[in-house]
Amino acid sequence: MNRSFKSFVIPIALFCLVILFSWQWAKVLERPAAAINLGPPISVAGDEPIEPIPITAELNQEKVALGNQLFHEPRLSRDNTISCASCHDLNKGGTDQRAFPIGIDSQEGFLNAPTVLNNSFHFRQFWDGRARSLQDQIEGPIHASHEMDSNWPEIISKLKQSPEYVQAFKQIYADNINSDHIKDAIAIFENSLFTPNSRFDRFLRGDTNALTNNEKEGYRRFKAYGCVSCHQGILLGGNMFQKFGVFGDYFKDRGNITEADLGRFNVTGQEEDRYAFKVPSLRNIELTAPYFHDGTAETLDEAVKVMIKYQLGREVNQQDIDLIIQFLTTLTGEFEGSSP
Ligand code: HEC
Ligand code: HEC
Repeated sequence: MNRSFKSFVIPIALFCLVILFSWQWAKVLERPAAAINLGPPISVAGDEPIEPIPITAELNQEKVALGNQLFHEPRLSRDNTISCASCHDLNKGGTDQRAFPIGIDSQEGFLNAPTVLNNSFHFRQFWDGRARSLQDQIEGPIHASHEMDSNWPEIISKLKQSPEYVQAFKQIYADNINSDHIKDAIAIFENSLFTPNSRFDRFLRGDTNALTNNEKEGYRRFKAYGCVSCHQGILLGGNMFQKFGVFGDYFKDRGNITEADLGRFNVTGQEEDRYAFKVPSLRNIELTAPYFHDGTAETLDEAVKVMIKYQLGREVNQQDIDLIIQFLTTLTGEFEGSSP
């Protein structure tokens, strides 16, 4: 190699090294002061605190079809105006996207209507967990005077007037129409309302390109800040009760405390259950605003800020909040093959 070539190449190589170094250094400086330990870089080795939603479910399709019809059946309400779908619209992420739902006689409810998507994975049903199964849950809205305000004898006599229903129950249950079979069909239909294959689930299953770098960073922060201590498992929620307001008194700050705000206390009467609620699922969360049992948070940004303040008792910079929200939007799955 001749000398003039060397004297040309070496300075250029050095120059490139300096540029590369200062570029990397600038990136280090740009990073927010890490007040939290983000833990090791993400691996998708199967040791994550969140599990993907199963991709398929073996369900009796005749029951699913009958349950679907019953879920959309206004004759389940006293004046034939309200169906389950009135408050759990499958085109709106399984909610009504209102703070409080509207039931029979235009009465407004006092709790936000949660989604019905993926509900078979919840350990209990309702904000206060008072129903242990989807079947039991159905008793609630059927009888509630501000929701459907009906009863089984009335519903059964109305459905018996329809030859199609009589025929369907006979074929599927080899029996007449009765409340157990109505509840069974609706519950089996609800079992079919699961939303697999979100980008996050694809990532958990090993497709590292399913998330952008920002979304991966958002997930790391979700874990590092401790959101995952309550929002975990298949649903990122739905498997425990927790007090709303672990740090600071959410209810005093909000004001106007109602009976519904007492949460799990209404079921157990135990002081430690005052203001405790089932930790909600974060699946499809971008579709189900407004948030919280009181429907007060209109955006994910508001909801996450309330969580950081009252559940974690910390301050988090906006950049990290934005990353967490970007992660949350990767939890939208597929419903029957397309976006729910
Ligand atoms: C008038 C509105 C309204 C109607 C009608 C209604 N729901 Fe709901 N649903 C709600 C509200 C509000 C809640 C939360 C109540 C609570 O937690 O006490 C809820 C809760 C639920 C839950 C539990 C969700 C969770 O995450 O715990 C399921 C499942 C459900 N409803 C299914 C149904 C089915 C099935 C029907 C029809 C038989 C129905 N709902 C009718 C408003 C309604
Ligand atoms: C100590 C347990 C706990 C921690 C930690 C926690 N949450 Fe929650 N989260 C809850 C409970 C309980 C609720 C339901 C509150 C209510 O409406 O009564 C909730 C509700 C939510 C909701 C609204 C869901 C809905 O459908 O209304 C979102 C979004 C949310 N949490 C995100 C987060 C994020 C992001 C973090 C971390 C920054 C976090 N949570 C930390 C327990 C927790």
